[in-house]
Amino acid sequence: MYQRDLDKQKSLLAKAAIKYLQKGMVLGLGTGSTIDIFISELSKIENLFSSLKIVATSKVSAKKARDNRMNVVDPDKYLELDICIDGADEVDRNLSMIKGGGGALLWEKIVAYRASKRIYLADQSKQVTQLGAFPLPVEIIDYGHEWSAAAIEPLFKGVRLRKEATGNIFKTDSNNVIYDCLIKNEENTADLGSKLSAVPGVVTSGLFDQFIDILLTCRNGGVKEISSKENVFW
Ligand code: A5P
Repeated sequence: MYQRDLDKQKSLLAKAAIKYLQKGMVLGLGTGSTIDIFISELSKIENLFSSLKIVATSKVSAKKARDNRMNVVDPDKYLELDICIDGADEVDRNLSMIKGGGGALLWEKIVAYRASKRIYLADQSKQVTQLGAFPLPVEIIDYGHEWSAAAIEPLFKGVRLRKEATGNIFKTDSNNVIYDCLIKNEENTADLGSKLSAVPGVVTSGLFDQFIDILLTCRNGGVKEISSKENVFW
């Protein structure tokens, strides 16, 4: 699929997601190229965005939202999130996802966990029968990360420390590192999450199971809303 078609899909998904917003809501704002488009579409509707409180899932998204005059607030004990809108890297037929291609997986998970309704936007390239063509990001505490990585390595076909284009080690917004891990074909991803969290130093992984309330995705050039596995069409 051409990049321009995917960009068009992202734009349709972003516009569709805005329809779920109501004035005065507290919004959990995701991270990634689809969410960048969502921010720019939302920025055109001043009477809506000016009424929202926004909790961002990354410093990058917080800056983009603030640059567009949106009201970005910190996570706070008393703040309930009405809705969370985010992208995905892969979605399988059980509506499990891989996220974290942009490195924001931890904050994305924290924010989504707190939200009453979670909406994910996935262009057609994200629809998969089995998770794993996209390497699974695993966020690990910086201290002793090579030991933690050695401990998770047997669970995967391979693990690789994420680096910037400059060659520097990529650091998350929480100052952790990420290992991008190739999932074994025979692996049951439902078990993988608990195996990973048993390893000291592992903070979280990009496996997002049971997070989707509504998936907005594309089919034949139009937006499809999916809220249960029974409606999955790929
Ligand atoms: C960020 O860490 C990710 O979880 C993104 O939400 C995900 O990678 C989707 O990004 P795109 O919208 O750029 O495909």
